[in-house]
Amino acid sequence: MIGDIVGAPGRRAVAQVVTRWRAEKAVDFVVANAENAAAGRGVTAALAKEILDLGVDVITLGDHTWDQRDIVSALEKEPRLVRPLNFAAECPGRGWTTVAGPQGVAITVINAVGRVFLKPVDCPFRAIRRVLDKEPGLGKVILVDMHAEATSEKVVMGRYLDGFVTAVVGTHTHIPTADERLLPKGTAYITDLGMTGPRDSAIGRDLASVTAAMISGMPGKFEVADQDVALEGVLIDVDESTGKARKIKRVREVIP
Ligand SMILES: [Fe+2]
Ligand SMILES: [Fe+2]
Repeated sequence: MIGDIVGAPGRRAVAQVVTRWRAEKAVDFVVANAENAAAGRGVTAALAKEILDLGVDVITLGDHTWDQRDIVSALEKEPRLVRPLNFAAECPGRGWTTVAGPQGVAITVINAVGRVFLKPVDCPFRAIRRVLDKEPGLGKVILVDMHAEATSEKVVMGRYLDGFVTAVVGTHTHIPTADERLLPKGTAYITDLGMTGPRDSAIGRDLASVTAAMISGMPGKFEVADQDVALEGVLIDVDESTGKARKIKRVREVIP
């Protein structure tokens, strides 16, 4: 599972790493958060296709879902693209998907967005619980991207879903956390995957313009930075017969 892909540098990192890791690290299935793939703001239909073509199996999104209006058509048609489940019921697209993984193993990916320091949305806990309790067609392997600002909200979601899903990973802050672990009932967990993009930046944006805006309090135009690019995320070893995780390992690949 790969942290937020930011702009062209992030897409370049995906292009250089994902296919190679399938061979080198025996990676069978890749989930990537792409809510910042289009110059930092959302993802377009064309870029979503590009990322899927680069070897990503399922794309998740977040609070930047609607930044690019043309994503609506892709959300309606592409089963490998999910937006947060707990958006309003009227929103196009899906909050979870089940796709065929390696050897025909059904893999479900669920995306939710937090409520702390973010726009009001439905309760992510109840929304995910409703899917797990009521929906037919869930895979044995269930991967959750909890896109949220507050570490506490992500920690609580991890423990709330422990034993019910294979993994709960956090996204959105673009800063990887060092708390990857197996929870007591077999769910792999990390509070934030980090970022796939330029690290010489303020969470992916040009440092000088973010600094000026922060100090002056005036709005600024934040271009995507381009130096010190890395892909960050986790490798999760899954027992597909039980749906439990065996191991979670934090990874970072710096792109030359
Ligand atoms: Fe976000
Ligand atoms: Fe993000």
